[in-house]
Amino acid sequence: MLAKGASAATASTDQILAQVPIERPRIAVKAGVYAPAVDSAMLCRRTVAEVLASPIEHPRVIELCAGSGIASVYAARAGARVTAVDDARGAIETVKANASANGVSIDVVDADVGVLPALAPADLVITNPPYVPAPDSATDGHAWNAGPDGRKVVDAVISRLPQLVRPGGVVIIVHSTVTGTERTLADLRALGFDTAISDEESLEFGPVMTGRARWLEDQGLIEAGQRTERLVAIRAVRAGAE
Ligand SMILES: C[S@@+](CC[C@H](N)C(=O)[O-])C[C@H]1O[C@@H](n2cnc3c(N)ncnc32)[C@H](O)[C@@H]1O
Repeated sequence: MLAKGASAATASTDQILAQVPIERPRIAVKAGVYAPAVDSAMLCRRTVAEVLASPIEHPRVIELCAGSGIASVYAARAGARVTAVDDARGAIETVKANASANGVSIDVVDADVGVLPALAPADLVITNPPYVPAPDSATDGHAWNAGPDGRKVVDAVISRLPQLVRPGGVVIIVHSTVTGTERTLADLRALGFDTAISDEESLEFGPVMTGRARWLEDQGLIEAGQRTERLVAIRAVRAGAE
């Protein structure tokens, strides 16, 4: 977490996507579906790096909480066989449309991460889930609100990982430090994953965080006056055969 007053040298979504060494897909977003942002771009950059570095020619990728499907489309373009999961109808339709518009094939699964159907274990599981702490009174914001500690979906994802990633496989989770990086790392280690923070970006609070900054202070989730956050990509490797 950035100290109060520390500057946040934010890379923009476009700047991060410009670092991805394959052509940027055309992504259209239906109303109500999460438009690609800095966190999405971090997931795309790390996902493409993992797919291109994989010793497997066409690694199997599962994206949880796929939204527009931008990371899934990037993964498919990089050569992966991709399954994208989301529980919002608009997101499901958007992933299908974006896959088609970019000439890639993606299996799309309409499911809550808490009650997923059986999926073959993947070489790489990627996710940028909802992770913004939200008061119980918050009604909209399905794409970002994640309960009072911001961990509702992150915890559901982590608990499913032993079934979703093969031994030796890799997991990438993007979230804010406000959501609790140390807890995510500890929970992954407890499940037998080797963990590291692979990517970080600091940024000024956007409208959602700004709008609930006082509440976040009251909950002790940010420091008084803090109006910046750090986004992290956590890379976890499941113990076992490569
Ligand atoms: C922050 S958006 C990320 C979208 C996209 N992956 C990206 O990086 O731009 C989170 C997505 O998670 C989906 N979602 C929220 N809760 C979910 C759940 N319990 N199971 C599956 N998907 C969920 C939302 O519909 C939304 O599309």
